[in-house]
Amino acid sequence: MANSNTTTEVAQKASPCVMIIYGASGDLTKRKLLPALMNLQQEGLLSQQFAIIGFSYDQLDTNSFRQKLTEGVKQLSDTPLDETLWKWFLDRIYYVQGDFSDAAAYQRLKDQIATAQKEHNTQGNLFHYLAVAPQFFSLIVRKLGEANLTKETNGNWVRVIVEKPFGHDYESAIQLNKELKEVLGEKQIYRIDHYLGKETVQNVMVFRFANSIIEPLWNRTYIDHVQITAAETVGVEHRGAFYETAGALRDMVPNHLFQLLTLTAMEPPISFDADAVRDKQAEILHAIQMPTPEEVLQNTVRGQYGEGVIDNQRVPAYRSEPNVAPNSNTETFVAMKLKIDNWRWGDVPFYLRTGKRLCHRVTEIAIRFRRTPFTLFRRSPIHDPRTNQLVIHIQPDEGISLRFGAKVPGSVMKLGLVNMDFDYSRDFGTSHSTGYERLLYDCMIGDATLFQRADMVEAAWSVIEPVIDVWKALPARGFPNYASGSWGPKEADDLLERDGRAWRDITSEENGAKCATATSAKTT
Ligand code: BG6
Repeated sequence: MANSNTTTEVAQKASPCVMIIYGASGDLTKRKLLPALMNLQQEGLLSQQFAIIGFSYDQLDTNSFRQKLTEGVKQLSDTPLDETLWKWFLDRIYYVQGDFSDAAAYQRLKDQIATAQKEHNTQGNLFHYLAVAPQFFSLIVRKLGEANLTKETNGNWVRVIVEKPFGHDYESAIQLNKELKEVLGEKQIYRIDHYLGKETVQNVMVFRFANSIIEPLWNRTYIDHVQITAAETVGVEHRGAFYETAGALRDMVPNHLFQLLTLTAMEPPISFDADAVRDKQAEILHAIQMPTPEEVLQNTVRGQYGEGVIDNQRVPAYRSEPNVAPNSNTETFVAMKLKIDNWRWGDVPFYLRTGKRLCHRVTEIAIRFRRTPFTLFRRSPIHDPRTNQLVIHIQPDEGISLRFGAKVPGSVMKLGLVNMDFDYSRDFGTSHSTGYERLLYDCMIGDATLFQRADMVEAAWSVIEPVIDVWKALPARGFPNYASGSWGPKEADDLLERDGRAWRDITSEENGAKCATATSAKTT
């Protein structure tokens, strides 16, 4: 069924501005930022008064930068480049070469900004995008301050997008916030989490609050527990050096998984205004029960992938990946049980899991409803009427499905499980979004709803701080403990089994395929 009762609104164009991308010669610019900007321009959402300046250490100039981007964008696109559109961009792309610590480079940048402002009449608005390694965040912002490129004067805005990871733990996140705020106001800082650019993540709020039949069921009276899964089939790829210092916990939990958790659990905000939504998300982070060291040991599981088979290909163990120590104890898998101590969720566990080299690439939120009272079925062959489950499929097959029980036709009372499905691409058509469109656009119109506020980042780190501490004090033993192509270590299953529950069987419910077992991991 193709849908179509959609409400249409004419969106406002983004404000005029110069966008400066720090670390512009890196992957993010050609893979995500430019394709997203092109999509925005195609939708008519960029201002004509717009220019881009790439700033990085690589020895390039405006011409060679334009050429490099043209090749990169062409290579990465699966459709032929729209020449007219690309020309529009080429006419407004510039490059400044420099070292992020060199004051003279910021003077050159300032001159280039002035030229671009004049040529494209960008009205003095500056959009700084820090697509750089985290050790440069504070340095660049400090240098921008010294070069007088952060002040908002004459009604012009200056905004800074900071990529993740935002800090390495609670203390370093506080320190980074402090350093940024020595130069910028909180309203100028846009801490990005690309999960919030995903349509289906944004849809969690719409689904919960725009449907009057959902909200009354969304609490501990009806919900037994919630499972949030972000499973990847890829390994660490070329990011071994970074990943060795991060691990799955830091890389995925306080940011992406907590976004899914807070949107699922938050109270209804009074509006979609940035602070109204973020206040409610922050309340959830503060309501999460801080685990004691014993609870960390009991309620968290870490794992590391061994070699195995994914999509019929043999893949190496984590310890054999480039730039990974041969005896590394870095976790590539995390599962944990969290409790939210408030009236809506008291006693409803939230189980989270994420890992690399798992059986399928899937991100989803599964809401398991309570079983029905049993009396009616006592004398029938139905033993466990745990029928209702709502799954919000974040990726790759975006949609929502509601499972319920139905009588299987026949002369005995048999229960069958059936699904009611909403499929994004079928019902709304597919879009070629990179996930960055909305975030870039929102920054240009000054809407920070989908960005992290300082207190949220700090609260998220504070929740996982006890886990970091216990794991550090007791290094993992027995790694690797799951085979690539499995669903992670057996202890992750035990975590739910102890509570009389099980992870949703995504493999057989969605794919009908088989995965390797965790125990087939070989020690390397
Ligand atoms: C990034 C992590 O933030 O998110 C990666 O650093 C991870 O390790 C990625 O692979 C997952 O994002 P997505 O959009 O591919 O699910």
